[in-house]
Amino acid sequence: MIKAHGLSRARLKSLVDAAKAARKKAYCPYSHHPVGAAVLTDKGRIYTGANVENASYGLSLCAERVAVFNAVSRGDSKVRAIAVACKDARPCGACRQVVMEFADRSTALILVSTGKDDGNDKITVTRAALMLPGAFDPLASGLLPQPQPKNGR
Ligand code: THU
Repeated sequence: MIKAHGLSRARLKSLVDAAKAARKKAYCPYSHHPVGAAVLTDKGRIYTGANVENASYGLSLCAERVAVFNAVSRGDSKVRAIAVACKDARPCGACRQVVMEFADRSTALILVSTGKDDGNDKITVTRAALMLPGAFDPLASGLLPQPQPKNGR
C-alpha cells in the first residue's frame, strides 16, 4: 500500500473524493469560484465544507474554514489531514492559520487542482505547517497553557 504522509492510498482517495463532492455544494454566485474541502480527524472521520458567499462580500467564508469549523463544532478537533479542491488549490493565509490551530506537525495538506475539470486533477500532498512558516502559535504566545506530560512530571 502506498503511503502519503502517513495516509493510506484509500484514505487519500476518500478525502480527495469528499473534497470534490463538497465543492459541488459551494454557494458562490459572486466569484463563480467553487471550492470544496474535507478534513480527516484523528478519530478517522471526515467532515466537509464548501465556500459560502454573501451579497455583503466580506461575510463570505472559505471552504477550508467551513470544513474545519464543521469538525470542531461536532467535537472532533484534531485535524490529521485536510484536502482542498478547486481550479488551482492554494488555501488563503487566513485558512492556513485556522488549520494550524487544530493541526500538528504531521498534519497533511492535500491540494487538488482540478484545472479545466477534465478529470486531469493535479494532486499535491504536503504538510500544513510547511504552508505557513512562523504561524501565530497559541502555545508560544502563552494564550493557551502548555500541555502537561501524561505522567505528571
Ligand atoms: N476561497 C476558498 O473557499 N478557499 C480558498 O482556498 C481560496 C478562496 C473562496 C472564497 C471565495 O468564495 C472564492 O473562493 C473566491 O475568492
